[in-house]
Amino acid sequence: MVKILVAGFKGRMGNTTTKMVLENADFELTGVYDPNASEKNLNELSDFKNEDVPAYTKLADIDVNSIDVWIDFTSPASVYENAKFALLHDISPVIGTTGLADDQVAELKEIAKKNKVGGLIAPNFGISAVLLMQFAQQAAKYFPDVEIIEMHHDKKLDAPSGTALNTAKLISEVRKQKIQGNPEEKESLIGARGADYEGMRIHSVRLPGYVAHEQVLFGGQGEALTIRQDSFDRISFMSGVAVAAKKIGDYDELLVGLENLL
Ligand SMILES: NC(=O)c1ccc[n+]([C@@H]2O[C@H](COP(=O)([O-])OP(=O)(O)OC[C@H]3O[C@@H](n4cnc5c(N)ncnc54)[C@H](O)[C@@H]3O)[C@@H](O)[C@H]2O)c1
Repeated sequence: MVKILVAGFKGRMGNTTTKMVLENADFELTGVYDPNASEKNLNELSDFKNEDVPAYTKLADIDVNSIDVWIDFTSPASVYENAKFALLHDISPVIGTTGLADDQVAELKEIAKKNKVGGLIAPNFGISAVLLMQFAQQAAKYFPDVEIIEMHHDKKLDAPSGTALNTAKLISEVRKQKIQGNPEEKESLIGARGADYEGMRIHSVRLPGYVAHEQVLFGGQGEALTIRQDSFDRISFMSGVAVAAKKIGDYDELLVGLENLL
């Protein structure tokens, strides 16, 4: 049995993850954590009234010896401290929270290596998104002109999405360096052309009703290719989270991207 703590259990992803962990016979939920919780036990919530699981609101109170894996769906402002705390206490972090800066990821990798603890940062746990990133990287070898449109619900804090940024990074590994569009182009409304990642444009849409969606558009001479994925329900991320929580104990380094575990 893998002993798991869910960080951010009061949030949208945290709630779905807590249910998944409780329903999976390979997992034992040994704690939940959220500084914004008022509960001391998960059973104080009507959804979980039969579950006797300690609910922590401070890092210092967490019983670190009862946890193998720390699943994090919190906020861009807290994910670094949480992941560091887990690694320093010999707990494998499985990080779904987006918004970590490159230098923070590099520092966490160092800590994991030094302490020989496995961990995973996955900008997207959905199989459709992982495949979209792989297909986009393949297509970019032939189509260096590319724009990314990501669409999310309007409660999302970071932009662009972690998946869009990761897609751009993967594409840039194989794409011929190129500044796209007309060199003379001017925005009459600032931001009209989206964010610039090494000459590629990323556009972020925020609307109620959406969950998580991405399109990668490639243009060539007389042809175009669009790759699209849609996550309609947060349940779509759970098989990826479960695979990560099961396998991550076999590793002694911090990996980035669910594809490294599949
Ligand atoms: N990797 C993926 O597949 C994937 C999928 C969906 C969402 N996400 C990401 O997951 C994160 C959470 O998304 P959400 O929609 O559930 O957000 P949310 O706002 O519904 O929930 C976040 C929760 O984290 C809690 N929190 C804040 N600071 C904390 C801390 N220091 N420690 C623990 N908990 C803390 C908040 O109180 C809140 O309950 C976002 O970064 C989002 O982009 C990732």
